Amino acid sequence: MAAPRRSAADRPAARTAGDDPRPPLRIAMVGHAFMGRAHANAFRQAERFFPLPRRLELAVVVGRDRARAAAAARRFGFAGASADLAAVLADPAIDLVDIATPNDSHHAVAMAALRAGKHVLCEKPLALSVAEARAMATLARRRRRRVGVWHNYRRAPAVALAARLIARGDIGVVRQVRAAYLQDWLRDPQAEASWRTRRRTAGSGAHGDLNAHLIDLVRALTGLEFEAVTALQQTFTRQRPDGRGGKARVDVDDAFCFLARFRGGAIGTFESSRTATGRKNHNCIEVYGDAGALRWNLERLNELELFRCADAADAQGFRTILCMDAKHPYAANWWPDGHTIGYEHTFVHHVADFVRALHDGTPFHPDFDDGLAVQRVLDAGLRSTATGRWVEVGAGAR
Ligand SMILES: NC(=O)c1ccc[n+]([C@@H]2O[C@H](COP(=O)([O-])OP(=O)(O)OC[C@H]3O[C@@H](n4cnc5c(N)ncnc54)[C@H](O)[C@@H]3O)[C@@H](O)[C@H]2O)c1
Repeated sequence: MAAPRRSAADRPAARTAGDDPRPPLRIAMVGHAFMGRAHANAFRQAERFFPLPRRLELAVVVGRDRARAAAAARRFGFAGASADLAAVLADPAIDLVDIATPNDSHHAVAMAALRAGKHVLCEKPLALSVAEARAMATLARRRRRRVGVWHNYRRAPAVALAARLIARGDIGVVRQVRAAYLQDWLRDPQAEASWRTRRRTAGSGAHGDLNAHLIDLVRALTGLEFEAVTALQQTFTRQRPDGRGGKARVDVDDAFCFLARFRGGAIGTFESSRTATGRKNHNCIEVYGDAGALRWNLERLNELELFRCADAADAQGFRTILCMDAKHPYAANWWPDGHTIGYEHTFVHHVADFVRALHDGTPFHPDFDDGLAVQRVLDAGLRSTATGRWVEVGAGAR
């Protein structure tokens, strides 16, 4: 094994709260299932691998059921649990509210948290509508609170490296983007309905769930802004078992594809599906510039494929960079060169960057304005499926 890169002195020292001079950042986490687990893990791991200016205190897990929230708090290492969000928000000791609940609660929880003076991290998509997202972004700015949206894939080392290479001009002017996020967990018509298959609770199906990530990735990687989209959606299974012996109506898309025109002339194609047989978490993005191209796929998380026209003509071809050397984004904080990391680490990076930005007063992206920009594209896509026409992004958004 290669020698560790950092001396013991470089590593954040293990401290107890008693002798830790850093100010605390006390966290209330709302929701404690899939994303609750990912966030809780990230809050704990960030402390261990990144030198943070604030001491993260896992204060309270909030859920609808106190006993279940208490069980989650024990498991995740939070000090307490509550089923009373208002009381938690009224507690001046809480600094940061982390929202890990279904989409229909993001707006209400974030608005209440901001009004109570808390910083907020919110899951994606930011809201159910442009109007909700706009209100959240406006209030965050007015109250001068620090906010972030959990578009965690921006912070995979390979994606952050891709953004660096594109900004440096390594692939030239971006002309075309090809993005696909494909899963198959709703392929079986007997798969149960949930909040994710209802428009009232989810807003949309694969579109808000998966295209939201792709839209954010494209904005983060290329800096391109969407101008107009034209979209197509399909619901293959319109009724699903409701888990109580009955049937529940499905009123969101199973698959949602759209074409995009960006300001400045670039174009893009986007595909999302929860019925793409055989695809488990195929989150793949290709960026084509006039001097090179890049490709990243979550299922090969640490790898970035790069083609450069600047290479000798007889040696050109896509090459694969393993983005786990100390020179790559985030990698130096983990293990010796080449020791790979996984899905959960993207959330850890999100926490580390957010806490540093909060402490230093530096920008953090994606913030709620970025979440609003994503919401505008989602909304334009939905309106396009209703009319079959191109829809300008932002124009007439609800
Ligand atoms: N960033 C990502 O990669 C990613 C991945 C999956 C989900 N998500 C997003 O995370 C959010 C949560 O998704 P999930 O997969 O964790 O869902 P989930 O169904 O696994 O968990 C939702 C949790 O919220 C709780 N809950 C529901 N309504 C609530 C309310 N009104 N108040 C308090 N708690 C409530 C549930 O009891 C549960 O603990 C969604 O917005 C989803 O789009 C993001």
